[in-house]
Amino acid sequence: MFFASDNWAGAHPAINERLMRESTRFAAAYGTSELDRSIERRFNDLFEREVAVFFVATGTAANSLALASVERPGGVVFAHTEAHVIEDECGAPDFFSGMRMIPVDGGEGKMNPLNLKARMARYPQDAVHHGRAAAITLTQATEVGSIYSLDEIKAISSIAKAGSLPLHMDGARFANALIGLDTTPAEMTWKRGVDILSFGGTKNGCWCAEAIVFFDPDMAKELPFIRKRTAQLFSKSRFIAAQFEAYLNDGLWLELAAHANAMADRLREGLRASNSARQAWPTQSNEVFAIVPKSSAKAAADKGAKFYDWLQPSNMQDTVSDDETLIRLVTSFATTADDVDAFLDAIA
Ligand SMILES: Cc1ncc(COP(=O)(O)O)c(C=O)c1O
Repeated sequence: MFFASDNWAGAHPAINERLMRESTRFAAAYGTSELDRSIERRFNDLFEREVAVFFVATGTAANSLALASVERPGGVVFAHTEAHVIEDECGAPDFFSGMRMIPVDGGEGKMNPLNLKARMARYPQDAVHHGRAAAITLTQATEVGSIYSLDEIKAISSIAKAGSLPLHMDGARFANALIGLDTTPAEMTWKRGVDILSFGGTKNGCWCAEAIVFFDPDMAKELPFIRKRTAQLFSKSRFIAAQFEAYLNDGLWLELAAHANAMADRLREGLRASNSARQAWPTQSNEVFAIVPKSSAKAAADKGAKFYDWLQPSNMQDTVSDDETLIRLVTSFATTADDVDAFLDAIA
């Protein structure tokens, strides 16, 4: 009963097998091997245009270096108040980009366009004392399990374009969002005005594979140097490429995300039918937030269930009483229907 996070899961056998095969041969180092190159080209097919791709090891690195690539002295970056770049990366995006992350409120973990405009108005390009707007970043799927619709992405990118700002997407759970929206990688990104994407693989069955994708390769000119200076250029980068090869082959990545989302659907159904717990807010990806009596949470934990207590987000409609707690449940490619049913039994 592992619902603490999707990165508690192991790696998919197809990815392990590909890594094993890779480990028996020699190849050029530092991202120059034929394998690295061929997987970079695969990203062109995936996104239906020429992109520039850089493999890194963590989602935090992908976000931080993506933002570092659009650094402006005195720049500020707008992100949702509960965005991972603000709350969970220990200031790494600020550290690597030299810019400040500015919180923008909004329901369901999504920046509200009006709030975004109001925030941006405080940082005009000539505001030498406050700093100036430099980029916007949104998370897809969001940290609270919701998904920006294609129109919502477009609304944010229109604001970015109006202010001549690049738009970055934190896609640590990109595949889960794609399945949730039933759309294509191109539609969910550059066709809606996204300029740079952190493309996550680790949470969805890879061992350790993340990529920064630039939809305009000209924007990526400094990234090779930024990546090296931040110690993210791996000599054995081909092992990240190898993971992505297995991940993307025959649509494995979409299959795994569809499974994780289906397990979250099963959890949502179970909570709906339950008298002892309720969904804290509707979610669409592989994360479910539940309000449960503290005694039930303890009982489930005592039976071995792993999950995190969660801080109440801003704009939460429901209330958590003194004898209740808010918990986060994350499903993954490795979650089974039996795990879900056992958890539902444990909190009943
Ligand atoms: C939305 C989001 N972005 C980025 C990350 C960063 O991932 P990592 O822990 O690999 O740095 C996470 C990980 O939990 C995440 O949930």
